[in-house]
Amino acid sequence: MQQRKLGNEGLEVSAVSLGTMMMPDNEESVRTIQGAMDAGVTMFDTADLYGTEYQLGRFGENEKLVGRALKGRRDKALVATKFGITHGQGPKGDPAYIKKSVDASLYSLGLDYIDLYYQHRPDPNTPIEETVGTMADLVKQGKIRYIGLSEAPADMIRRAHAVHPITAVETEYSLWSREVEDEVLPVLKELHIGLVPYSPLGRGFLTGQIKKFEDLPIDDYRRYYPRFQGENFAKNVKVVSLIERMASLKGCTPAQLSLAWLLAQGEQIVPIPGTKRLDRVLENLGALEVTLSADDLAEIERISPKGVTAGSRFGTY
Ligand SMILES: NC(=O)c1ccc[n+]([C@@H]2O[C@H](COP(=O)([O-])OP(=O)(O)OC[C@H]3O[C@@H](n4cnc5c(N)ncnc54)[C@H](OP(=O)(O)O)[C@@H]3O)[C@@H](O)[C@H]2O)c1
Repeated sequence: MQQRKLGNEGLEVSAVSLGTMMMPDNEESVRTIQGAMDAGVTMFDTADLYGTEYQLGRFGENEKLVGRALKGRRDKALVATKFGITHGQGPKGDPAYIKKSVDASLYSLGLDYIDLYYQHRPDPNTPIEETVGTMADLVKQGKIRYIGLSEAPADMIRRAHAVHPITAVETEYSLWSREVEDEVLPVLKELHIGLVPYSPLGRGFLTGQIKKFEDLPIDDYRRYYPRFQGENFAKNVKVVSLIERMASLKGCTPAQLSLAWLLAQGEQIVPIPGTKRLDRVLENLGALEVTLSADDLAEIERISPKGVTAGSRFGTY
């Protein structure tokens, strides 16, 4: 499996890794994570928030799933998790909150260290220097190995990196979410910080498997996202049909074309497509076999130009 560096501190991960956010807590998910490892995937992306249901008193359920799947295989796995999205109190990154969160995540994962620990969202009430200073203490204590930020703006990334090297920034990036190219990506390239694109398949839209709103299950969160609604959906699906056509000409799937395009945007870019299914993990890894020429990249830009996506990134519930 092709490896890629994230940051300048020695972290190397499988060039396509795996997001576990939407995995239900069942044996198929365990088999998918383990099958991904057998296929060479090394980095697994979770968060303390995933699978958490505050009303039911369930916390860190997705971390527990990942920990269970990796039991006995820790030496081959790199675990990335996140803290900072709270229930009703906005994002938090103060020292006391971080210290409590890291211990909770280690407990849920059943591990004694986390490979890559991200702040999930910036905390407007705590200076980033204080947050990253606390995370740097966790590195010294051996609780975490590398530090990451998620959805942080460019100036904050610079300030954070001045306190302690930032290994990776995780943010949405795909053919239909290219905002990161304006300010964040140039700073990451300048400072040799890795970029971990989340929702690299446009939350599934870019795979061509979602043809109409009704394809989304009745309780699917994407029904609340503007890009999946009404006229936006109709416009976006037209672009995806062009991506599908190009993929078939290239002899690959639309998911593979979308991931190959991301991989071509920089050396330190490691997408984390999410899927519950092992066959799709394997399909997504096939992106590493897709070579895109300059002409191919130009054609992708023509059929799916920056800014073409209709609707804003996030929804309201
Ligand atoms: N830092 C953050 O704030 C943040 C936010 C969102 C996500 N994330 C991370 O990013 C990861 C991925 O993001 P995501 O799950 O939102 O979106 P995504 O990876 O863009 O898309 C996931 C969707 O695509 C489907 N899919 C995956 N591979 C496919 C294939 N080859 N063919 C057809 N359908 C396919 C999956 O369905 P099936 O499961 O049915 O295959 C799922 O519905 C998450 O797991 C999480 O770790 C981070």
